Amino acid sequence: MLPDPYASDLWVFGYGSLIFRADFPYTDKCPATIQHWSRRFWQGSADHRGTPGYPGRVVTLTAAPEVICWGMAYRIAGNQVDEVLDHLDYREKGGYERLELPLSLEGQQVVNGLTYHATKGNSDYLGSADADSMVRQISIAIGPSGPNREYLLKLEASLKAHGVVDDHVFDLADRLRDLESGQPT
Ligand code: SIN
Repeated sequence: MLPDPYASDLWVFGYGSLIFRADFPYTDKCPATIQHWSRRFWQGSADHRGTPGYPGRVVTLTAAPEVICWGMAYRIAGNQVDEVLDHLDYREKGGYERLELPLSLEGQQVVNGLTYHATKGNSDYLGSADADSMVRQISIAIGPSGPNREYLLKLEASLKAHGVVDDHVFDLADRLRDLESGQPT
């Protein structure tokens, strides 16, 4: 059999800012899902959407049996994998680690892939809080990558653009709009 010229390609799965800001070279992209994970605004961001003095909140994955998390998968050419992973390791350095996992590519096969995942063990981890206090934090925090509210609203818009429902994200976005329009939440 002939060797597969794409065997060293890597699929990277994004479920947060990597959906709406893919700042690295890729040869293909495809909506994808991962099983047994939920997207949650439980990771603190002191380097992108907040500061060490006032961290924002960004998404991570939390184990959730039977739950499916939708995201975007990007195919990285084998000869660019090292460069892209160096870039992403730096971009996601605020508490995220690489996690290898199976990705179900929309309309295609299941492939082995990689995502960035922030666990409880990292020093920026915030965990759950009541929705209104998470939204107050998100409405105020600003970091080098911009306002935290923009991250939430861009994520919501990306999910809606793909017809994806995520109750956690949509609830926070609705509460943010209520807060900013002076409505009681
Ligand atoms: C991701 O987008 O997949 C990881 C979290 C983030 O950078 O927002």
